[in-house]
Amino acid sequence: MANTSKNDEQMKIPTHVGIIMDGNGRWAKSRGLPRLAGHKAGTENLRRVIRACVEFGIQYLTIYAFSTENWGRPKDEVEGLLRILAEVIEKELPELNEQGVQLHHIGRLEDLPENLRQKVNKAIEITKNNQRLVLNVAFNYGGRDEIVCAIKQMMRDGVTPEQVTPDLISSYMFTAGMPDPDLIIRTSGEMRTSNFLIWQASYAEWYVTPTFWPDFDKEELRKALVAFAQRDRRFGKLSEQDATGSKPVNAC
Ligand code: IPE
Ligand code: IPE
Ligand code: MG
Repeated sequence: MANTSKNDEQMKIPTHVGIIMDGNGRWAKSRGLPRLAGHKAGTENLRRVIRACVEFGIQYLTIYAFSTENWGRPKDEVEGLLRILAEVIEKELPELNEQGVQLHHIGRLEDLPENLRQKVNKAIEITKNNQRLVLNVAFNYGGRDEIVCAIKQMMRDGVTPEQVTPDLISSYMFTAGMPDPDLIIRTSGEMRTSNFLIWQASYAEWYVTPTFWPDFDKEELRKALVAFAQRDRRFGKLSEQDATGSKPVNAC
């Protein structure tokens, strides 16, 4: 494994990591730059974090790039973010493919401009057989929106109340078939979910760093992984019990 130490290789690595990539605007402001320069720098940073995730052996990475609430920002910022996503997909696709990254999109693709949809779908198609890292790009994603979509689809499918279980609901989420996130990292210090994976992250470990996203590098990721490795995940039980074992009783 390149660029990882013996200690890294012995560390308990989360299977699925989610990242709320926050702080681009403040990063730019602290340098006297426009907000979009922060988003550009944040996008550049993605390349090194994805590379680091592959090196650490993380299997699923979900990145929060644009929330359903972010449409409320000024028009030029929203347009800039849409443009940056289109550019980054085009530019990074060869390297992502080379790294063995399988790209997915979570969120509402249908509300995005046609040219962007095409680029996203093309990248998904080209990378679909890659096996090293599943990368979910949450763009136009909202956790509540995802739950509403899931409920509507269950009703369309004629699901009866007796059939509704946590597993069934998970199978209607954008992340169907994927393990729940083990670790959620939020950069820039905010202590909130901001509507990210609110169903899936019920037992995720949270790690918040004051570092702004464009400065979050491999060393910062290592710190988050070290913190994760030291957590005692009890899932409501006691440490000495097998924390992974039985499922909760479905009371209703
Ligand atoms: C995160 O950075 C990127 C998006 C939400 C699109 P922000 O733009 O939220 O940066 P801050 O929080 O204003 O610093
Ligand atoms: C969350 O960041 C969304 C993304 C990182 C894409 P925000 O900056 O939009 O979150 P709030 O508004 O501070 O909660
Ligand atoms: Mg923010």
